[in-house]
Amino acid sequence: MPLPQHTLMDSHVVVVGGGSGIGRAVAGVASNLGARVTIAGRAAAKLEAAASEMDGPVATAPVDMTDEGAVEGWAAALGPVDHLVITASSAAHGPFAALETGKVRAMFDAKFFGPYVAARAVLPRIANGGSITLFSGVLSRRPGLNCSGLGAVNGAVEALTRALALELGPNIRVNCVSPGMVRSEAYAHLAPETRDHMYRSTGGSLPLKRVGEVGEIAEAVLFLMTSPYTTGVVLDIDGGHMVRQYATR
Ligand SMILES: NC(=O)c1ccc[n+]([C@@H]2O[C@H](COP(=O)([O-])OP(=O)(O)OC[C@H]3O[C@@H](n4cnc5c(N)ncnc54)[C@H](OP(=O)(O)O)[C@@H]3O)[C@@H](O)[C@H]2O)c1
Repeated sequence: MPLPQHTLMDSHVVVVGGGSGIGRAVAGVASNLGARVTIAGRAAAKLEAAASEMDGPVATAPVDMTDEGAVEGWAAALGPVDHLVITASSAAHGPFAALETGKVRAMFDAKFFGPYVAARAVLPRIANGGSITLFSGVLSRRPGLNCSGLGAVNGAVEALTRALALELGPNIRVNCVSPGMVRSEAYAHLAPETRDHMYRSTGGSLPLKRVGEVGEIAEAVLFLMTSPYTTGVVLDIDGGHMVRQYATR
């Protein structure tokens, strides 16, 4: 049997969140494989900078996913789409007893309702055989202190993935990537020494003894976009976070 070919040649891949981090890596891989790529996010200048660093031509389509009215017009301007990948999100951390509800609601707006609205708006334009890939994270099933809201929103994204896979099959496959900690701009707000300590201490607790790189997550997205018999899956790409030891021996 011949080896399966990952091909995206001439397909249109839209990456919401493609201006940085994992989304930018997904856009780069897709572009290298011959896809026509469109990246979206709120900051137009960031999108232009990311697009200019890619080998192939990459279009930019700025949008704030939390603005439902704007998302409709944005989706209409995309034209036909083969694969929609949504990495865009924001996070809110803090003790359950102290974190303001408004911050948790804003996070649900960005990480759950944003992808929900964007996926629904793009859906009529996704070709048969196409896919939607959403993003959750390890905290849904391996909770962390001060991350109750983030764990909950990840769980909501995973539940949505399974429901959409059922409802949108057989024409459109829907999957979710659950990354562990990955070096990305998501942590750019931290002081470098704080960030390095976090990477070292989290990485050291994992079977693979390091945090992930954005390209390693992009590989998983490539698989989900091109694997014709994969739907309804939450794919853990986390260096073994799900099986890490709780206490050192
Ligand atoms: N990195 C990790 O360690 C890690 C761990 C677990 C899960 N994850 C998940 O993996 C996904 C990707 O993370 P990442 O590290 O690549 O994050 P990132 O580098 O911060 O990228 C997120 C992107 O989303 C865009 N964005 C944010 N809010 C948006 C909105 N309302 N509308 C449109 N675009 C928006 C941002 O651009 P603008 O600000 O310009 O809009 C940014 O380019 C996220 O779902 C994250 O929760 C990441």
